[in-house]
Amino acid sequence: MNLIIRENVQAHLKELEDWLAQTREEPLEDMAGFFSARLEDYEEHMSLWKEAYRRFADFMPKGPMKVLDLGCGTGLELDECFLRNPELQVTGVDLCRDMLEKLREKHGDKQLELVCADYFQYDMSRSAWDMVISFESLHHFFPEQKGTLYRKIYTGLREGGTFLLGDYIACTPREEELLQQEYRERRSRSRIPPEQFVHFDIPLTLEHETALLSAAGFENITPLDCIEGAVLLSAEKKPLQ
Ligand SMILES: C[S@@+](CC[C@H](N)C(=O)[O-])C[C@H]1O[C@@H](n2cnc3c(N)ncnc32)[C@H](O)[C@@H]1O
Repeated sequence: MNLIIRENVQAHLKELEDWLAQTREEPLEDMAGFFSARLEDYEEHMSLWKEAYRRFADFMPKGPMKVLDLGCGTGLELDECFLRNPELQVTGVDLCRDMLEKLREKHGDKQLELVCADYFQYDMSRSAWDMVISFESLHHFFPEQKGTLYRKIYTGLREGGTFLLGDYIACTPREEELLQQEYRERRSRSRIPPEQFVHFDIPLTLEHETALLSAAGFENITPLDCIEGAVLLSAEKKPLQ
């Protein structure tokens, strides 16, 4: 499938360059603190992707399944997933306790385990997951970090399991370079220690995402749809022969 991520790439890049110039002096915010501070308006802000959440949930099979959601936040994707499949057994991992509390308020009656942790550190081998999912969380990380995470996800999935990703994808290598360069500069200027997570978007192109997933061992890496710039992508772990 040939996805069109942006209709007007040049205009998008120009907008991005202008925005980067305008915000250059703004301090970077701690990742969990960024989302806590915006909790009240968070779901309203994300309502632009309502259709993308619906579509994402459509790609999940019905019936009981063990699902690991990385960066689950307040669970906007889970709202749709539980609606279609109340039998899901979900473990949601997120750095931000406030986001998790909101998710718990909405879905306390479901089979839902919430873990306030960094997903890079989370032990994914605790279960043989049928699916690992993530929506709008992984675009905050560099390719090297994602490569390591994708290998962990691959190992944590059962044979024949699926990784379903919904995320902000860069429309050209130029977008990827521009944002990474700016991010490195801002981190260095503010002397952010390497281990601290701060909020800044550094999406990768679809080609780059696909290459990382493939290097991690995934097969049948398939772009499924693109809605309001959010790309839905599935990748499979080989079934046992
Ligand atoms: C834009 S929100 C997306 C939340 C939810 N998936 C949704 O679509 O509404 C990104 C989430 O990723 C979480 N996050 C970012 N980096 C993380 C990390 N290293 N480990 C765990 N959660 C992380 C943030 O705390 C935040 O809740």
